[in-house]
Amino acid sequence: MTLDGVGEGRSALGRSLLERKTLTSDWVPSFAAISRADFLPELMWPYDMDSGTTVTVDLRDEPSLWFSYADADVPIVTQWDDGKAEGRGNVPTSSASMPSVVFRMLRDLDVQAGQRVLEIGTGTGWNAALLAHRLGHDNVVTIEIDSAVATAARDRLARCGLPVLVLARDGEEGDEPGAPYDRIIATAGLRSIPPAWIAQAWPGGLIVAPWGTHYCAQDAVVRLEVAEDGKHAEGRFTGPVEFMKLRSHRLPFAGHDVYVPHGVTGADRSTTSVTVDQLLGDRFAVSSFAVGLRVRDCYRQAAAERDGARPVWFYGLTDKSWACVMFRDGQDEAQVWQSGPRRLWDEVAAALDWWQQAGEPGYDRFGLTVTADSSTTRRTPGTYEPHCRRRTDRAGSGKSAAALRPDRVAARGRRRVQPLSPGGGHPTRSARGTSRA
Ligand SMILES: C[S@@+](CC[C@H](N)C(=O)[O-])C[C@H]1O[C@@H](n2cnc3c(N)ncnc32)[C@H](O)[C@@H]1O
Repeated sequence: MTLDGVGEGRSALGRSLLERKTLTSDWVPSFAAISRADFLPELMWPYDMDSGTTVTVDLRDEPSLWFSYADADVPIVTQWDDGKAEGRGNVPTSSASMPSVVFRMLRDLDVQAGQRVLEIGTGTGWNAALLAHRLGHDNVVTIEIDSAVATAARDRLARCGLPVLVLARDGEEGDEPGAPYDRIIATAGLRSIPPAWIAQAWPGGLIVAPWGTHYCAQDAVVRLEVAEDGKHAEGRFTGPVEFMKLRSHRLPFAGHDVYVPHGVTGADRSTTSVTVDQLLGDRFAVSSFAVGLRVRDCYRQAAAERDGARPVWFYGLTDKSWACVMFRDGQDEAQVWQSGPRRLWDEVAAALDWWQQAGEPGYDRFGLTVTADSSTTRRTPGTYEPHCRRRTDRAGSGKSAAALRPDRVAARGRRRVQPLSPGGGHPTRSARGTSRA
């Protein structure tokens, strides 16, 4: 099947995705058969590339504008503030991902006829519909934590003749009764891989997910292969993305004033020759991803430039350590303040230096190994870099899918979470042609 006969807007989108090699030929029939417009609500908030803002569009008022966004390579917010906001709220909490991101991740998922797929993060249901069209609706199960979002997606899938099983609950637990799966795909950002997913995939199965650290909001898509022993998974990153996070993986940041109630007075002072460009780069700079791997439990927040000055703050997430670097136009050295048990700026500067000394490796040079009780990032190829060891809980520790008892899964601890930072999940103008969800 080709794009012939598909509406003009969608056909233009398909051609553009094909040219950019995000849409592969094996996904063209599903792209042509399943319109994203069929999965969008009448009132929605697409990201407008030209103005660099999120706009409000209602099908009942502006039908042609509504369809042009539905057929554009932009992310579209469909829910705010976990459904508490009437209309537009503060934090986007459900969306239809950018089509280019959807098809990049489906490409990475490498599905074959007859395989069974578990999706975490149903959202609108469009991604589940594409999978169901390709594999058959009986071979796809999708999990959505928000019951209203799950109900809407279930209805839309049924209307399209693809009655996929939509489970309304926390996707971190996976779907033990339906396991094992050949493929597991997450369409929300992760800060650790839930052990249940490894236990619920076949040995040799693939897990594709946006993964990152709290250092910055951006993620990278990781493609993990579950080992023959069924106890660990390993794989490489395929490129940058930014997703709204799994609810329990949101940034646990208490706010600037909790860290710095009395200003910088009393903090240790020094200077640095690191430049603002070296530290921040562009939105999807590998340097930020790499530094986040080395500097654990740290959140970086860059303020907007004002009057030639730009402060960048660092906050420790396990104590109240903080650091600030003030970049000023025309000055060779930036002023640094550090306070608390950790010297966060020293850690960041050392991590940046490590990445530069390693030849500034790209995303595809990093990999992730996940075992039952830890995940480790490594730089590939070559020596193993045992940095960024992070504990995950032991609910799935060493257990096969059959042995993973639901009571143990349910007993797992939950971290306290705060809402996303204002920037989290929002696309910005610089997202044009990049990777947004
Ligand atoms: C970017 S949207 C998913 C896009 C979707 N796949 C589509 O095709 O439209 C992320 C979704 O993940 C859901 N989510 C967040 N945390 C979750 C969790 N713990 N379990 C299941 N779903 C979750 C959000 O409610 C949101 O609907």
